[in-house]
Amino acid sequence: MNPQTLSLRALLFLGLWHTGRRSLASTSELKDPPKKIAVVGAGIGGTAAAFYLRQEFGPGVKIDVFEPEVVGGRLATVKMGDYEYETGGSVIHPLNLHMKHFIEKLGIPPRKDVPSKMAIFDGKELTFEESDWFIINFLRLLWRYGFSFLRMQMWVESILDKFMRIYQYQQYGYSFTTVERLLHAMGGDGFLTIMNQTLEETMIGEGFSQVFLNEIVAPITRVNYGQSVRINGFVGAVSLAGAESGLWAVDGGNKRVCSGLLYHSKSELIPAKVTSVSVKVRPSKTGPTTSYYEVNYADESGSAHALYDIVVIATPLHQGKSDITFSGFSPPIPSHYPGRYHQTVTTLVHGMLNMSYLGTSEHASEFTVSDILTTDTKGSMINSLSSIDPVHIPADYKRPPASKTKVWKVFSPQPLSQEQLKEMFLSWDSVSETPWLAYPSYRPPHRRTPPFILHNRLYYLNALEWAASAMEMSAISARNVALLAHHRWHSQTGRIDQEDLHTRLRGEL
Ligand SMILES: Cc1cc2nc3c(=O)[nH]c(=O)nc-3n(C[C@H](O)[C@H](O)[C@H](O)COP(=O)(O)OP(=O)(O)OC[C@H]3O[C@@H](n4cnc5c(N)ncnc54)[C@H](O)[C@@H]3O)c2cc1C
Ligand SMILES: *[C@@H]1O[C@H](CO)[C@@H](O)[C@H](O)[C@H]1NC(C)=O
Ligand SMILES: *[C@@H]1O[C@H](CO)[C@@H](O)[C@H](O)[C@H]1NC(C)=O
Repeated sequence: MNPQTLSLRALLFLGLWHTGRRSLASTSELKDPPKKIAVVGAGIGGTAAAFYLRQEFGPGVKIDVFEPEVVGGRLATVKMGDYEYETGGSVIHPLNLHMKHFIEKLGIPPRKDVPSKMAIFDGKELTFEESDWFIINFLRLLWRYGFSFLRMQMWVESILDKFMRIYQYQQYGYSFTTVERLLHAMGGDGFLTIMNQTLEETMIGEGFSQVFLNEIVAPITRVNYGQSVRINGFVGAVSLAGAESGLWAVDGGNKRVCSGLLYHSKSELIPAKVTSVSVKVRPSKTGPTTSYYEVNYADESGSAHALYDIVVIATPLHQGKSDITFSGFSPPIPSHYPGRYHQTVTTLVHGMLNMSYLGTSEHASEFTVSDILTTDTKGSMINSLSSIDPVHIPADYKRPPASKTKVWKVFSPQPLSQEQLKEMFLSWDSVSETPWLAYPSYRPPHRRTPPFILHNRLYYLNALEWAASAMEMSAISARNVALLAHHRWHSQTGRIDQEDLHTRLRGEL
């Protein structure tokens, strides 16, 4: 890490980044703000969009957020026994500054930390088990992989340093019209290249061995994205950053951030499913025609529609994820873009683990590993197996050893059969299964990533998931879309798709 990024980070940590020195053109010279904005979907993306749209457009605009299901989307919890547990997005990186900013703004504390311990399972036995002693882990890894582990951390760090630039750009109000331009602004051609090739190609190119990829990297991509090292290099780096220390979660459940942002943004939640969006043109008093978006929506009591100046789609436009018809647009907007979402089934089991399943002779009473990752072996039925803690950690909580009945979380590509459960657990008293179309099925190279701008004032937030899917990515995209909507509304092109921002802003800090 060079001193310059160090100081940038230090500033970011001090929280100076969101007090910012964004010199806004005085609002008087701007045209009237929009009257009504619709956001479709109340996951972290849609609720963060509502938050940033309020920030950009001020208190006068009415913001409606449509959501037929529970607020939170892929951030969700289920109750098992007396406690609630995360079934979807669970961990947040310490440098995910938007998520951090949200909880500070909302006054929600992070969840109390319970130390974790990792192991790797090859389908027969545990090939690696983290010790409580840092030096032992270090020596074990050094013995088997030389300095690969350290080099991997440095590689991830170098990508993270560039990634962090987005916070400065957004603080100064800069926005981007495509995923490619956003990535390019952060990491130049290098980011476009790693986004367009597999993690495997990228890391082999960086000099990592196939053995290291199979034994260390693949287990990490499998637990985070349910996929192999053939995901793109960018999401791969995000995945590896997700294996660093200092990960956190939100006390009481990550989805609390979504309901908090909705409340804070003073948006109205409309519990209905959007069925179609069409463009309507109307002559206006002052001369030129203006267009509006008609949003049609349905709930149990029937269907209705309303007109909006701006619409933000904050759900994936993909098969199985949503089904929205766009009519009257030229060129046409598809309901579904090419590419599919990958299935990950989350199974929570309140039960007792069968230690022999892991091929270990360790005593269950001494087995305190929390995360068991798996290598990519033929016929392996699970992606990972973790001992998990409630969303709110009770006082005096200590993670119980494997000899106790406790809650385990299994990620698998298919639902687990009774036979498979019986192989893994000696006994159980409850099981909860959540099948997710969890994240894109990453298959680089890409022909084209979906656009952020679907039509003049119709935006698409989840396009960025094709670079990487994570809570923070949705939050970054939400802020980008809010800035874009603002600048385009007021025809301020100076903050859209600017080149060389990194060099130009260097003097500003
Ligand atoms: C099992 C799993 C584990 C994960 N682990 C992590 C992790 O540890 N860390 C991390 O950062 N990320 C993780 N992720 C990814 C993260 O959860 C997602 O990237 C993020 O939550 C996406 O948020 P979103 O708001 O963009 O989309 P969503 O949460 O999918 O929100 C979209 C919303 O739109 C609604 N909707 C759909 N159609 C319509 C319609 N027609 N009208 C109105 N509303 C509609 C949906 O009901 C949904 O609520 C994980 C995901 C899964 C599934
Ligand atoms: C535990 O797992 C082992 C190895 O897979 C299996 O042979 C054994 O039958 C299992 N024990 C029980 C009680 O299910
Ligand atoms: C990614 O690779 C494909 C095929 O090699 C190419 O057509 C496309 O333009 C590339 N995209 C980017 C952003 O580099």
